[in-house]
Amino acid sequence: MISKKDRLFNLSTKHTSYLFAITETGHLEHLYYGRLLSNPTLSIDALAEKRSLNIGTSTAYDSDNPTLYLTNLCMEYSTMGKGDYRECSVNIEYSRGMQTLDFIVKSFRILPGKPRTFSGLPESYGDKSTCTTLEITLKETSLPLRMALTYTVFEDSDVITRRATIYNDGTNSVRIKGLASAQLDLDADDWNLVTFDGAWARERYMNERPMLPGIYINDSKTGVSSADHNPCIFLKKDDGECIGMNLVYSGNHRELVEVSPYGKIRVMTGINPATFSWDLSPQDRFQSPEAVLTYSHQGMNGASQNFHHFINNHIVRGTWKLRERPVLINNWEATYFNFNEDKLLNLAKESADLGIELFVLDDGWFGLRNDDTTSLGDWTVNPKKLPSGLAGLSLEVHRLGMMFGLWVEPEMVSIESQLYKKHPDWMIAIPGRRPSVGRNQYILDLSRQEVRDHLFKNLSETWHLADVNYIKWDMNRVFSDIYSANAEIRNHGEFFHRYVLGLYDLLDRLTKAFPNVLFESCASGGNRFDLGMLCYMSQTWTSDNTDALCRLYIQEGTSCGYPLSTMGSHVSTSPNHQTLRRTDLEARFNVAAFGVLGYELDITKLKGQQKEAIRSQIAFYKAHRSLLQYGNFTRIKLANSHSNQVVWAVASHDKSELLVLFAQKLNLPNPGADKLRVEAVDLNAVYEVFPRQQKIDIKMFGDLLNRVSPVPITEGGLAQDTISKAISLESEIEHYRVSGEQVAYGGIKLNQQFGGTGYDAMTRVLGDFGNRIYIFKKINLESK
Ligand code: GLA
Repeated sequence: MISKKDRLFNLSTKHTSYLFAITETGHLEHLYYGRLLSNPTLSIDALAEKRSLNIGTSTAYDSDNPTLYLTNLCMEYSTMGKGDYRECSVNIEYSRGMQTLDFIVKSFRILPGKPRTFSGLPESYGDKSTCTTLEITLKETSLPLRMALTYTVFEDSDVITRRATIYNDGTNSVRIKGLASAQLDLDADDWNLVTFDGAWARERYMNERPMLPGIYINDSKTGVSSADHNPCIFLKKDDGECIGMNLVYSGNHRELVEVSPYGKIRVMTGINPATFSWDLSPQDRFQSPEAVLTYSHQGMNGASQNFHHFINNHIVRGTWKLRERPVLINNWEATYFNFNEDKLLNLAKESADLGIELFVLDDGWFGLRNDDTTSLGDWTVNPKKLPSGLAGLSLEVHRLGMMFGLWVEPEMVSIESQLYKKHPDWMIAIPGRRPSVGRNQYILDLSRQEVRDHLFKNLSETWHLADVNYIKWDMNRVFSDIYSANAEIRNHGEFFHRYVLGLYDLLDRLTKAFPNVLFESCASGGNRFDLGMLCYMSQTWTSDNTDALCRLYIQEGTSCGYPLSTMGSHVSTSPNHQTLRRTDLEARFNVAAFGVLGYELDITKLKGQQKEAIRSQIAFYKAHRSLLQYGNFTRIKLANSHSNQVVWAVASHDKSELLVLFAQKLNLPNPGADKLRVEAVDLNAVYEVFPRQQKIDIKMFGDLLNRVSPVPITEGGLAQDTISKAISLESEIEHYRVSGEQVAYGGIKLNQQFGGTGYDAMTRVLGDFGNRIYIFKKINLESK
């Protein structure tokens, strides 16, 4: 709901209020963002900054307002030159480098739903039953410039989105040097900042730090939203208050947090001004990407759940919105570039037999691509590897009752390619300068219409031919040597943003032309996991690293901003290809199950026991898929803490069923009791609680097997291998009937873990990096 009374704007969702007011000078003073204030008789005075006295060494707004110091006001936007010395959200250079700006409210309108915008940027959506929009128009006091601040309130998700638009009403061009999508000024009450940082194979590890006076920047200058620093951030307090911010954008972004000398925190998000400037012609307009804000008093779990609801309902769209995602097999780590039709079909057959629903052919099917040095750009099948073509392979896969998926990396070009020979100037490089290189490849200039048209035609033809049901859209290097031969670009400060707009244009056309195809976005794993890509592609490959331990950190961090339905999670082989760590097959599954499940290993080489384990993993996943992709997810114990344990829970919306992951990093000698305490239950209900039955590889016991075996068993020897192929142990017997209150307040003390002193049917054998999934099922007492 949005209302305006006197000078006060009140934006409220189911559980939150966001308030700001027009000052006597026509600026917008931010007053409050927090729990719902349901009483309509709100007092501006109570929340507004008191300003009856001067502040030493500061600049008052003007002589009529000698005690109005913009630098000590919480504001909805900010400019330079009128006494606010913090970082500004609107920075426009006009007339020989002048930058002083002053925007004053002129008018506003409240609109049902969310009007579509013009900018070519993706954005959230909703109709008038789910959202309302406020548009405030501000005018520069002495220049022909207008600004619109747009707020859309999504009541059902407890989310408010924001964006800013600049209009040049004059006759001269101006240069936009920075335009934040949102600015939020808060009183600094011990807020901690949480960011998600990393690199390839260790994306989005959670980092938290207290905020101190000065400026903290979380950004990307790589050209993509990046694994370095995700655009999603949180501010949180110890008492549970938490504000989350994200950006619907896939390019260079900047989140800036400034603690001012007056104890206020300014948070901004938007396009990164460090790599951006935009020449705005007379009568033209420029719009920022959309920022997404949420508040919860239930900490980061509450704020994350708001984001999850918002993304599932207002970002992801089309056929796959809220739809269960298929279990896939991807041939990449099974074969890398070394495959042929037979190999792939064998993999597909085994997969179908185990219950896998989608076969994905990864890199290496096109041009002369037998390693990563060639052929990007030549999206035609390699007949040596696939004599029946994509159409033939796809037909066979479909005959097995599976969907067929294909990997592409359309934004790239290899020097060794037909495309480069034909169009060398389509590659991003500065004439006369040797370009830098990433993974032996270069980027195509998607800011150019002819490049996009070529890709649209080429990809559409291939995808039609291959009758694809799924596309993995990869992007394996980031930008350097910025230059464009695009005649539209006169100022290269515009390049990064124009590239992103070009990418979105292409994705828009392709996703509309293939409305039923499931798209998965990928960028060397999770180098472009953001809300912009999720507007076109319903899921994202979370990380190339599928190690069961690392994934606890990666999925934990990712889950803070993004729902499980968007997180591609695969079971791969052991030792893991990225870390060489050995982990148990069941442990790998238990972690991967908290996401969109896939397998990425050569299952044709697995032993019978392992195949049976995978068969029952998939059956379990399918039986609980809607819960695992769309349930309410809570992080109970963080990987990113000193704890040796990690606990996650996912609950159905009516809390009748929960799945709880209990994972440990290392096995402890002579361990104490493990406790499972879960608060996200129905307190009035009674639950049956038991672990998912899984196989224990007897190899885990090593030489100890000799204590019970009539024949000697050598570690790594033939006897051990043969026994392990034939026999595996069932996991422990453990079962509780317990009240919701007891689980929430007291917790369940679990069976003892193996501690070197014996073993029986109740013993929990987890080992290093081991884990269990516990099933909580509400009992209907009346029917008993
Ligand atoms: C990237 C992706 C992988 C795989 C390879 C293929 O690294 O993240 O999943 O598709 O490219 O080259």
